[in-house]
Amino acid sequence: MLTISICVGSSCHLKGAPKIVHLFREAISENNLKDKVTLSATFCLGRCAEGVCVKIGEDVIVNVSVNNFDEIFEKHVLGALK
Ligand code: FES
Repeated sequence: MLTISICVGSSCHLKGAPKIVHLFREAISENNLKDKVTLSATFCLGRCAEGVCVKIGEDVIVNVSVNNFDEIFEKHVLGALK
């Protein structure tokens, strides 16, 4: 099981974390990954200046945005499940 934790600290929230949560939900369902991935929320990951921050497995991915979401999902989620 791969755990994806999206930072819901105030800085990441302001930078669009709720939208990123939504994109993860959609991508997980589109790729039929509900049994392989757990989506959760995490408190501040200490990288506020680089938000939105997302922890995928043991890696913290910074600067996650609507623009680079697809690329990050493919590399860090689909890539990790291969
Ligand atoms: S608020 Fe997200 S890293 Fe601090």
